[in-house]
Amino acid sequence: MTDVLTPVLTNNWDQDRSWTLASYEAQGGYGALKKALSPEFGGPDAIISAVKDSGLRGRGGAGFPTGLKWGFIPQDNPKPKYLVVNADESEPGTCKDIPLMMATPHTLVEGVIISSFAIRANTAFIYIRGEVLHVIRRVQRAVQEAYLAGHLGKNIHGSGFDLDVVVHAGAGAYICGEETALLEGLEGRRGQPRLRPPFPAVAGLYASPTVINNVESIASVPSIIDNGAAWFSSMGTERSKGFGIFSLSGHVTNPGQYEAPLGITLRKLIELAGGMRNGRELKFWTPGGSSTPLLTAEHLDVPLDFEGVGAAGSMLGTRALQIFDETVCVVRATLRWTEFYKHESCGKCTPCREGTWWLVQTLARLDKGQGTEEDLDTMLDQCDNILGRSFCALADGAVSPIQSSIQYFRDEFIEHFNHGGCPFDPAASTLFAPAGANA
Ligand SMILES: Cc1cc2nc3c(=O)[nH]c(=O)nc-3n(C[C@H](O)[C@H](O)[C@H](O)COP(=O)(O)O)c2cc1C
Ligand code: SF4
Repeated sequence: MTDVLTPVLTNNWDQDRSWTLASYEAQGGYGALKKALSPEFGGPDAIISAVKDSGLRGRGGAGFPTGLKWGFIPQDNPKPKYLVVNADESEPGTCKDIPLMMATPHTLVEGVIISSFAIRANTAFIYIRGEVLHVIRRVQRAVQEAYLAGHLGKNIHGSGFDLDVVVHAGAGAYICGEETALLEGLEGRRGQPRLRPPFPAVAGLYASPTVINNVESIASVPSIIDNGAAWFSSMGTERSKGFGIFSLSGHVTNPGQYEAPLGITLRKLIELAGGMRNGRELKFWTPGGSSTPLLTAEHLDVPLDFEGVGAAGSMLGTRALQIFDETVCVVRATLRWTEFYKHESCGKCTPCREGTWWLVQTLARLDKGQGTEEDLDTMLDQCDNILGRSFCALADGAVSPIQSSIQYFRDEFIEHFNHGGCPFDPAASTLFAPAGANA
């Protein structure tokens, strides 16, 4: 059963003190760095080509090809180039980068050094959300160890390449994961998205060419250098190559991180996770965090790659699979997510700032059974006025759970106002809750 798993990034997570340099090096760590820096490898352009050939697509949600992004950095621009690692990880359900940084931070540090060498950056930043102090400390310690071992600093391993890495603590706002808001934050300003163009590749951090990549994207680079582009692209599907960490949370027997080739199905992942908890039925799930439209049991066999999930009407996102069984009220879950988006809206643009507030008002009324069927259409109309009309993708994400929950569970919304309250509340009714569901 476990042969579908492909532990690469997670391979050493169970080693003794896996986060230390000694443990990482004992498993062959920093071998890819030495290979990448050796003249035989062919220099920075050869690394960019390898990453392009591997087919690696960004693991932060949008799936943009990583090598292509690196190739956009104008090398004739005399300004310094920067690599910024997006370790903000604040999307509800998304929980892969933090475990990775806790278990094997050197995978990320090694990836940062190789990637910086490729794009000719001499300074790199790792932007970690501020609340996770334990992670910040762990990554800081790994960076310190890397300096002491000569993997960072001046003339790394005699290559003539210099690199400094700064670990930056964010202040804990979901919007700071949006790459241009993140840059604002790094520069010491309030985290709000920037107008594009110019794109970060041309004028990013301090108006200089900047690559911004997700933790998992950068951590995948050493394995590509070590094993080759063909090895990486032999996994996954035609246009979604390689492996990824699938984070299963919610009503499965063994929630956790499952590293598998892109294209695996939720059916298989639930099987690997020991099935649904207490033998209950799958009701709805998010394929990639709360910003990706909900799917249902009819989508159990959708290939979890960028194309497959897109064709099913959702997005692969960050592979944050939140699993909900039949005891969960979809109206209540949607309200919770919408409250999050309202709270995290940065306020820069009207459709999102005002729209998320109104969505919460309407949903809260529906949740209490005080709405009408007209409210559903009003809410869908509000969503239409937010989606694609806001400054950044936070607002697009905010409407995803609402539109998809009404699409699949309209009857359940109606049941709320027919019933005069939530039918899932055992004190009010057992309409939807099977016997013992709330035990
Ligand atoms: C509201 C919002 C939050 C985001 N949060 C994150 C995040 O925490 N981590 C991340 O890597 N990307 C996040 N993104 C996506 C980034 O803007 C960007 O696409 C990503 O860091 C690029 O890295 P990749 O190409 O390696 O995927 C977020 C986007 C939005 C709109
Ligand atoms: S969509 Fe929301 S989060 Fe994005 S800029 Fe507008 S107000 Fe800010």
